[in-house]
Amino acid sequence: MPVTCVFGSQWGDEGKGKVVDFLSARADFCVRYQGGSNAGHTIYVGDQRYALRLTPSGVLQGATGVIGTGVLVDPKVLLAEIEKLEERGHEVRTRLKVSDRAQLVLPFHGPLDRALDASRNDVWRVGTTGRGISTAMADKHLYEGFRAADLLSDRVRSERLRYLIERGNRRLEALGAEPLNAEEAEAEVASWVKWMRPMVRDTSRLLLDAVQAGREILLEGAQAALLDVDFGTYPFVSTSTCGVAGVAVGTGLPPRAVVRIIAVAKAYVTRVGKGPFPTRETGEAGKRMGQTGNEFGTVTGRPRDCGWFDAVAMRHVCRLNGVDELALTKIDVLSGLDPLRICVAYDLDGKRLEHFPADVDALRRCRPVFRELPGFAGDLSAVRSRRDLPEGVVGYLRAIEELSGVPISLLSVGPERTETVLLGDS
Ligand code: IMP
Repeated sequence: MPVTCVFGSQWGDEGKGKVVDFLSARADFCVRYQGGSNAGHTIYVGDQRYALRLTPSGVLQGATGVIGTGVLVDPKVLLAEIEKLEERGHEVRTRLKVSDRAQLVLPFHGPLDRALDASRNDVWRVGTTGRGISTAMADKHLYEGFRAADLLSDRVRSERLRYLIERGNRRLEALGAEPLNAEEAEAEVASWVKWMRPMVRDTSRLLLDAVQAGREILLEGAQAALLDVDFGTYPFVSTSTCGVAGVAVGTGLPPRAVVRIIAVAKAYVTRVGKGPFPTRETGEAGKRMGQTGNEFGTVTGRPRDCGWFDAVAMRHVCRLNGVDELALTKIDVLSGLDPLRICVAYDLDGKRLEHFPADVDALRRCRPVFRELPGFAGDLSAVRSRRDLPEGVVGYLRAIEELSGVPISLLSVGPERTETVLLGDS
């Protein structure tokens, strides 16, 4: 399948990094199309752990990494990541391309993001990752963004940057935050030119040519569909178009180019930051999911809330994105829990609701209607084929497929690359 899109279908942290890394064994290109360094994609290869924020996960398998037009690129984070990978023997610099149209996160965007979220009252505070993502995106739409192409032209850079930094400082001061030293900030941005220049190019042409040549392209979503700025739990969302709809603007590929759409879903649900979460489980089972699943933010270190699989939300996401297949992760974490629960509908003020509401206040009032299923026990990490899965797992997978209307093609039974079962193959 020449162009495959893999995206998160819950509130993030579904294990996209692992799935993308696994599928990248055959990919020529691995492309990030949205988000920025608010993402944290974790990959385990043998005893090595990698946490990537901007670098497309497929580079570890040798694919060319493309950071597309829709990504908000913080060059400081990107350089640190490249250097760390190089220290560990992965020469990625020559295999990494950054779109000349990508917006850059400037030094004031992070502090501004944090000051802005701190200034909000309890009703509006989002709990952002503080990486400057929403402020850089807002500046793009205010026609005051700074793109990778602007960095490369000395004239454009010096004309635009001073103004933007001074303006950023005034916004920081208005929020009671410390302004940046403008000269230092300008020098920092100028220092990016040398190492970024060889990477910056028109990646849309690169990708269109690759499609024409029949090369394998894997598109890697960040954050997730329920954090999508339009179809997620607004305003408790991230700022980009996280599902497959983000691909066209985030890469320059025509929408029709995508031929296979895979949604990554965790076997239970987690959420960080604020915002409604109907199947949140505050009892023992939720604590156990958090501990066994090591549910702490890769970027912020914050503990994630845990809850049961939400089939109402999953149907919403699968329908919106025309999902072909599900990749279900972390099934091993549910081992030992009995019974298992899946939310099949919501109860909203005494009425049964089968769809995901737009109104977050209504969503907060929704109570999950659960179907209970028998659990399973034992270690799944050595399982590599469907026929070796315990009965409890088979029943759980069947229920998810039936309720979401989409087949599960890949099952992750542990964090390591090889701890994966291809369900179509057995
Ligand atoms: P922002 O993307 O930093 O603006 O944060 C907005 C919301 O999205 C916050 O609730 C974050 O916790 C959440 N968020 C952003 N990126 C991720 C992610 O990669 N995984 C999970 N949650 C995320």
